[in-house]
Amino acid sequence: MDVKAGAKRKAGVRAVGRALPHDSAPLHVSGTATYTDDIPEPQGLLHLAVGISGKAHARIRRLDLSAVLAAPGVVAVMTADDIPGENNCGPVVKDDPILAPGLVQYAGQAVFAVAAETVTDARRAAKLALVDYEELEAILDPLQAVARNSFVLPTETIRRGDSRKRIHAAAHKVKGRVRLGGQDQFYLEGQIAMALPREDGDLFVYSSTQHPGEVQHLVAHAIGKSSKDVVVECRRMGGAFGGKESQPALIACIAALMAQKTGRPCKLRLDRDDDMLMTGKRHDFVIDYEAGFDDSGRIDGIEFTFASRCGMSVDLSGAINDRTMFHCDNAYYLGDVTIVSHRCKTHTVSNTAFRGFGGPQGMFGIECVVDDIARHLGMDPLDVRRRNFYGIGERDTTQYLQKVEDNLIHDIVERLERTADYRKRAAAIREFNAGSRILKRGIALTPVKFGISFTATHLNQAGALLHVYTDGTVQLNHGGTEMGQGLFIKVAQVVAEELQIDIDRIKLMASDTSKVPNASATAASSGSDLNGKAAQAAARKIKRRMTRFAAEHFSVTVDDIEFIDNEVRIGGKRIPFAELAKLAWFARTSLSATGFYRTPKINYDRATFSGRPFFYFAYGAAVSEVIIDTRTGEHRLLRVDILHDCGLSLNPAIDRGQIEGGFVQGAGWLTSEELWWNEKGELRTHAPSTYKIPTSSDVPPEFHVTMLESAANREKTIYRSKAVGEPPLMLALSVFHALRDAIHSVDGCVRVPVLQAPATPEAVLNAISLQRGEGGRS
Ligand code: MTE
Ligand code: HPA
Ligand code: MOS
Repeated sequence: MDVKAGAKRKAGVRAVGRALPHDSAPLHVSGTATYTDDIPEPQGLLHLAVGISGKAHARIRRLDLSAVLAAPGVVAVMTADDIPGENNCGPVVKDDPILAPGLVQYAGQAVFAVAAETVTDARRAAKLALVDYEELEAILDPLQAVARNSFVLPTETIRRGDSRKRIHAAAHKVKGRVRLGGQDQFYLEGQIAMALPREDGDLFVYSSTQHPGEVQHLVAHAIGKSSKDVVVECRRMGGAFGGKESQPALIACIAALMAQKTGRPCKLRLDRDDDMLMTGKRHDFVIDYEAGFDDSGRIDGIEFTFASRCGMSVDLSGAINDRTMFHCDNAYYLGDVTIVSHRCKTHTVSNTAFRGFGGPQGMFGIECVVDDIARHLGMDPLDVRRRNFYGIGERDTTQYLQKVEDNLIHDIVERLERTADYRKRAAAIREFNAGSRILKRGIALTPVKFGISFTATHLNQAGALLHVYTDGTVQLNHGGTEMGQGLFIKVAQVVAEELQIDIDRIKLMASDTSKVPNASATAASSGSDLNGKAAQAAARKIKRRMTRFAAEHFSVTVDDIEFIDNEVRIGGKRIPFAELAKLAWFARTSLSATGFYRTPKINYDRATFSGRPFFYFAYGAAVSEVIIDTRTGEHRLLRVDILHDCGLSLNPAIDRGQIEGGFVQGAGWLTSEELWWNEKGELRTHAPSTYKIPTSSDVPPEFHVTMLESAANREKTIYRSKAVGEPPLMLALSVFHALRDAIHSVDGCVRVPVLQAPATPEAVLNAISLQRGEGGRS
């Protein structure tokens, strides 16, 4: 299964395409992988805690920190007034105060920071502040925000054709509203940063971040200095899932400001509850839709209105909601469309990136529409899905005018339908349900098409820095970050393949802003696409230099030189790679190189929402089968079959992990993870006791994951692979639709089911009650 791109070569090191374990696996399982909190603490380290707002929207009349300052172990306190530079950690717009400047806009917002000799001292002291609030009216819900014109950014619209007219003229219509919950990233390692003062007011910051460059930039601005004065390093994160794309800046800025103020190293590690209260999550949505379609279920015209909870500031909400608009087609040609996207300002935490980055929410919308259509017509939903797939050579233009050139969905769904035995099982389930009053089963097959590239074109660039030492070993730096997804091993595989050296000769270095500057966040699933290519470019540069040197030194032509299997063949003889490295060095050849890559072909005009935002699409499909207990609303996921497209996988073991993990994480989002705010705007689900992520026992007992074979990316990506980080999450839409299928059977498949997400037992019971015509929330 392993050798793909390397298969053409007869001999030599085969690194790319092999199912190698994660480079840190031995460290992970032995507990010796160093996360930020494991870095040996420097002498004089101060521990920080943050005092957070208890109100959703209020003016601070008076802030009395005298008891905080007088508490045992406390060394310093800090408020907005103590910030020498910009009081902002917003990644795009400067609307995110580091410390609230007299106005709080969500319960959980940082108001002040305290530094103490121990973590306990700091956390205890932070609770002693006396705050006099003048409460202001709070907007707590996206619909309330729409009604009040409360937006963080202007409403955007994509329009193609005349959807009104087409819906009006259509033979059939469905119309509905569905609520879709948010999701906490629930990385195992919480947000953390440690800042160390260096000479002349400079700072070195360890940050658990997907975006060291942004942390560097925002820290520099906060302390009133510039990028050159700050170095940010991250060896690895204990999970991020988008939650560390922009959010770490707040934590790092507080640590940096306090280090600057006290002249001592400072560490801020959030407690889990505070982490959940203070930092942004996946956007929850209210989705309104109306579609017109023909007797076969084919959509003629469709209208969506998306209202997302952005929270109190912009953060990444612009790009996230754009991605929702780009993905509310999923794999379907929509006909005439109007998509309206409201970016609602609410007095809740500012929502942020989460695996899929708004895409899953758009796809959720269209999958509900398609399922409604099937129920309306009494058809199998799979037939309606297939009826609406993008065509090949026809009906192949998205609502943003990108042509779908690499359509694999027909092939994937056809194969999966067969291998998962969909039709037979669907029939068996109908039979089971007819004879079972309390337990009902359901099945669904849903497709995934996900656009790969940052939608902000300029972010699609990457750099690498490679050093070859005279003993033939290599240090590899690139602009990406490791969060468990296996980016580092993939990039190392590329370098090993290029230089034809064993992978254990390559040391993966921490992400470091002083090694690779101006790197984009490791996000949009493009980590290996971008950094793999940048590292390849660096490796090829060094290889070229070594080749040229060898040709001259051994008086052969460059065509007589081949790097192969830890050696270099020079004419008729072979010498070890290390020996050539030493000879080249001796002859004063540079063995260090940078590499750079930018994604080709993409171009996109944000003003008109048209062009080619995505280099290519990643595809997949899943069949899920569930059983529900109609008395309790509980369900079990019985069996899942997945067929997913990884192109020519760089590492099938890593990719399998991404598919399995992404799917289970998506199932958690859609079934068990519920964020609940009370009427005061306080998040009451801020710990695992009340916020239920999936556990190992939620993994389906039958879980068949297959990767599409011989599926070289038609675009020239790194070794023709495809990005895999985010797309599998959306395979879990099949779980939600299997639940709808089970609920549908409750009244003998008469009414169109109305199920809100997450489909908690409560939501399922509510849907059952509606299905029986007994009323409930719709
Ligand atoms: N996998 C693990 N184990 N941990 C993570 O934090 N983040 C996901 C995905 N897979 C994540 C993960 C998200 S949101 C993205 S964008 C990609 O990994 C980022 O990495 P990549 O671009 O290298 O795939
Ligand atoms: N995906 C993830 N992160 C991003 C994007 C995107 O498309 N754009 C900006 N940050
Ligand atoms: Mo991933 S949501 O793009 O960090």
